[in-house]
Amino acid sequence: MSRLRGKNIVLGISAGIAAYKTPLLVRLLKKEGARVRIILTPNAHKFVTPLTLSVLSEEEVLTSFTAEDKDNPVWNDHVAIGNWADLMFIAPATAHTISSMAHAKCNNLLIATYLSATCPVMIAPAMDLDMYGHPANQKNLELLASYGHTVLPVGEGPLASGLVGKGRLLEPEILKDHILSFFDKKGPLQGKKVLITAGPTYEKIDPVRFIGNFSSGKMGVALAWRAYHLGGEVDLVIGPNTLELVESPFNIIPVVNAQQMHHAVMKSYQYADIVISAAAVADFRPKNQSLSKIKKSTATDTIHLEKTPDILFEMGAKKKNQFLVGFALETDDGLTAALGKMKEKNLDAIVLNSLQDAGAGFATDTNKITYIGNDEKPTIFPLKSKKAVAQDIWNEIIAQRH
Ligand code: CTP
Repeated sequence: MSRLRGKNIVLGISAGIAAYKTPLLVRLLKKEGARVRIILTPNAHKFVTPLTLSVLSEEEVLTSFTAEDKDNPVWNDHVAIGNWADLMFIAPATAHTISSMAHAKCNNLLIATYLSATCPVMIAPAMDLDMYGHPANQKNLELLASYGHTVLPVGEGPLASGLVGKGRLLEPEILKDHILSFFDKKGPLQGKKVLITAGPTYEKIDPVRFIGNFSSGKMGVALAWRAYHLGGEVDLVIGPNTLELVESPFNIIPVVNAQQMHHAVMKSYQYADIVISAAAVADFRPKNQSLSKIKKSTATDTIHLEKTPDILFEMGAKKKNQFLVGFALETDDGLTAALGKMKEKNLDAIVLNSLQDAGAGFATDTNKITYIGNDEKPTIFPLKSKKAVAQDIWNEIIAQRH
């Protein structure tokens, strides 16, 4: 395959242990026909050798403002390199490099090239979990996103520190996929930010009990994968689930209860182009949460409840240009109820699944849906795998937006 033939990529590598993955990335990009010029930050050579990178990229690897030859120093023209690139890709981006980029601290060739480059920029962070989650680092990532750069998610798993959590550099194959989808202008969701909610929410009664529902999150995850394959940049806000999501190429924001889901959704909503609300949010939560386990001997037969925020309703009320799709899970007169929800929540479309249909709804691998757009005409689909249903839903959304 030569899907990157004619594409010029500057790969910026900063000094983190995850740099060991970059030779493989270079190999994958070269195999796809790209020209790859590599710039290391001053300490990155401690994690990956310039010789390996230069052999694989078939280019000179740059680290400083001047070439090494002391008797005949040559200026490495960061402006020319920046102009040459169709894409600047920083992987791994350490907290230090992220901070330097965010605040224009021009202390090495990589940052100088970044500041000179006029091409799109993608950043693949990698660091320890607490560093990644630190508000200062998160703020810097938000700043980079606000400059129009694409900030890729991190992987989750064992880290060099021995801790386990969020902070791993995505695997080279996945990084390559992001680069391919960036250049694949054919994807109808190219450049679109997609927000999807999925799964149930758990509302605590006491430390061991909760109010929840049987939602598995499978439908929302299938929608997220499809959106990613269509070229979208996806945020998936998902409640408690048992799905294998660790190496997913999109941004996963795990939450437990409706309040947390509300918070995460509203943060991402302001940047979103298309939103699909597939989560089965608990409508009520206990008014008072007991801090210790409620004993049978002292329990009453009443739990006082209060309403959780209706997240989709709030998104509808605050809608600017977002295309908003809701779900309606009904047991009775589905169509009327779904149309009612579409109007009440100011939606552009609603997906109805009726629990009267065998194989539809929660926890199954299949679903049977009816899609209703703003012409209010229902399109009824047969029972299919959730993966196929996700394709149908995205086909409808893309057709409706044209
Ligand atoms: N929804 C939401 N926040 C809530 C409840 C629902 O965002 N607190 C969203 C769901 O993700 C779904 C849509 O609203 O896209 C409809 O959810 P549903 O539970 O079918 O409807 P409700 O509005 O809760 O109404 P009812 O339970 O009375 O049917």
